[in-house]
Amino acid sequence: MIKGMSVQQILASYDDRAPLSEASTIPAPWYVDARIAELETKTVFSQTWQMVGRIEQVEKAGQFVTATVAGEPIVVVRGNDGVLRGFYNVCRHHAAAVVTEPCGQASILHCPYHGWNYGLDGALKGMPEFDGVKDFDRQKNGLVPVRAEIWEKFVFINLDPQAAPLHEFLGGLVRKAAPLGLAKLNYFDSRSYDIHCNWKVFIDNYLDGGYHVPHLHKALSSVLDYKAYTIENEDRYCLQSSPMVSSDEDAATGATRKGDRAWYFWQYPNLMINCYEGYMDTNLVIPIDVDHCRVIFDFYFSDVSEARREYNTQSVAVGNRVQDEDLGICEAVQRGLKSRAYGAGRLSVRREAGEQLFHQLLAADLKRGLGAGAAAAD
Ligand code: FES
Ligand SMILES: [Fe+2]
Repeated sequence: MIKGMSVQQILASYDDRAPLSEASTIPAPWYVDARIAELETKTVFSQTWQMVGRIEQVEKAGQFVTATVAGEPIVVVRGNDGVLRGFYNVCRHHAAAVVTEPCGQASILHCPYHGWNYGLDGALKGMPEFDGVKDFDRQKNGLVPVRAEIWEKFVFINLDPQAAPLHEFLGGLVRKAAPLGLAKLNYFDSRSYDIHCNWKVFIDNYLDGGYHVPHLHKALSSVLDYKAYTIENEDRYCLQSSPMVSSDEDAATGATRKGDRAWYFWQYPNLMINCYEGYMDTNLVIPIDVDHCRVIFDFYFSDVSEARREYNTQSVAVGNRVQDEDLGICEAVQRGLKSRAYGAGRLSVRREAGEQLFHQLLAADLKRGLGAGAAAAD
């Protein structure tokens, strides 16, 4: 908590209308004040589409994935009728998590606490030892639904019943990513990183238009034509892209980061999709608290046959090294944001337009959220 500053004052301390040449980042309190993190949970993460899994995890009847979104336990499950449905993963009896595995397949959703059973459509099917309970309507005690929709290879949910459909939310990204044929790639492996920084520090680092690449990622830098790096903002996404050059400066990077172009998509607020030829990784940034986040990397390849295992493993290791380089810098930034020496930073016009888009979208959501909260309290 920043002494003496109200949330309203913190939000007002960022000018979201300044042109890029005059703009600054969102000020330090946005990254370190727990009240901002709380407001983000209530607005940004409770009102945007959040990726919770991959389509192939919920292809067959009874297959499910679980996730936590804005602190809410969620399950998405494929019904016997083929419909994909999302629910709060909270038992209507005494609130235990009904589904306890990250993913799997079941014919019925069975609460481990007192054995209540729910159908794959969320309907309450049975409650042991509940005879004699009066005024209990089983129809009204099914799992509470949330919206679930799919795009390309990914399953998303949205906690907001009023939110626009997923494809509308993704906007231009749908068209822009279509030629890359993401759905043809195959899942290979995941890595999860717990980082001692606010989730926005990680996003900012991603959205600096390659600014940090020559300094921090020497190996990656060797395969990118840094001067020709482009940055495009549209709707709620930013596409950073670079022509590639072949280089043997770092053998593993040269062998596993190939193609004509590197494509780096960021979709507001917390999803990144990175593509090279025959390669994709997604990065999902999940806030833990104001000072910590978890980043989940999923790696995909065009060929995941046994013959390619060694190559794919090497490619994941290259990604891992870049991530380690980013991790150290993100933690240093979080410490710096708490320093009395720092307030906010200016943005490079050539490089940091994506960061400005992120900050503007966030500011709009938080201001709207605070306004709605204040109106509700009146
Ligand atoms: S909490 Fe689920 S059956 Fe009691
Ligand atoms: Fe980086």
